[in-house]
Amino acid sequence: MADADPGLNWAARRRQQARAIQRRSAAHAAAGTTDMAPGPFVNRAGTYTDPVRFAAEQRHLFGGDVPLVAGLSNDMPNPGDRLLFEETGVPIVILRGKDGVARAFLNMCTHRGAKLATDCTSSARLTCPFHAWTFDLAGALVGLPGARGFAGHAKADLGLVPVACTEWHGIIFVQPRAGATPVMIEDHLGSFLPELAQLELGKAEPVKAGEMRAASNWKFALDTYGEGYHFATLHASTIGQTHFNDMCVYDKFGPHHRVGFPDKTALALASLPESEWPEVDYGGVHYLFPNTILFIGSIEPGKGFTQIFRLFPGKTPGEMVTKFAVYAPTGVQSDQHRAECEFAFDATARVVSTEDYVIAANGWTNMAAADPMTPIIFGANEIALANVHRAIADRIGMALD
Ligand code: FES
Ligand SMILES: [Fe+2]
Repeated sequence: MADADPGLNWAARRRQQARAIQRRSAAHAAAGTTDMAPGPFVNRAGTYTDPVRFAAEQRHLFGGDVPLVAGLSNDMPNPGDRLLFEETGVPIVILRGKDGVARAFLNMCTHRGAKLATDCTSSARLTCPFHAWTFDLAGALVGLPGARGFAGHAKADLGLVPVACTEWHGIIFVQPRAGATPVMIEDHLGSFLPELAQLELGKAEPVKAGEMRAASNWKFALDTYGEGYHFATLHASTIGQTHFNDMCVYDKFGPHHRVGFPDKTALALASLPESEWPEVDYGGVHYLFPNTILFIGSIEPGKGFTQIFRLFPGKTPGEMVTKFAVYAPTGVQSDQHRAECEFAFDATARVVSTEDYVIAANGWTNMAAADPMTPIIFGANEIALANVHRAIADRIGMALD
């Protein structure tokens, strides 16, 4: 398939993929099986608690070398729209220029360092609240009151400090450090590229956003998105009702992955010829290394939603925040559709914060007190987790014991 072909019909590709996943789900449902790793993997408590490893993650994953998702294109669709990206500790503002290009800068006045933008209100200029230096949407200094005091400093040299930013298929990626070597998104995504491109995130319209915190390590919280082995117990009254426990369809794409969790309707498919299978919407949990989960789901056929979870470490190994947003995949179709997307946000936020993140926090108190060599065992059925931890360890250059 010519994935690079701009004429490719992404909807057709999604249908094809949805059918392939449906086939694998039906086979697992009929046989009671799941995709598995060759064997279990023993991780260690220290992988989560070690402050040296934590500092290496902050530096090598969140410190500018890896492109991170700052938002989607329609979070800032028009010239003058802006986004703030501060979760890595480096305050960054992303501005959409008159030419439609999204550019990122340190959110720091080049006079004496004041923060320029404190909210996401659109405007044609950015005026510093301290002494009113004014910058245009391309970061150039265009207003310098009392210029006589700055003899010898050319306005042209006092523009905002740029930060690497790429808008790719509807996703805005930022490398949150001034001076970081820009990474080609295509190289970062590798074989995952068509899986993300086919989501057509450039059409997604934001509906609702918020954040969820847990007194836990960011990776310990991230682990909860990677397996369905806990559905029947932790989510007994929610996802466990609708989805098979301990069953997944897993595909690895370098450090990224996609995992599908078959719902219980997959069982009925096995007794039907494929020609009679209902057409289902494409869906799944997409892990975009190192910290982003894109969940494509639907309330019912044709009523989809896109959820994005971005997990960030806090100041210590035991703090984290998840920025969570829900989008209407091809725009909000009606008031009812908006309400459904909002419902999907609220229901998911409730499950994550009252079920997954409660475990993440109370497990953390154990882990933080445990000997660093205490085994944390990923079953072969928890296939995504070992691969995520291996990819992180590779990237930070610290082996897993
Ligand atoms: S710090 Fe911004 S104008 Fe002085
Ligand atoms: Fe969960």
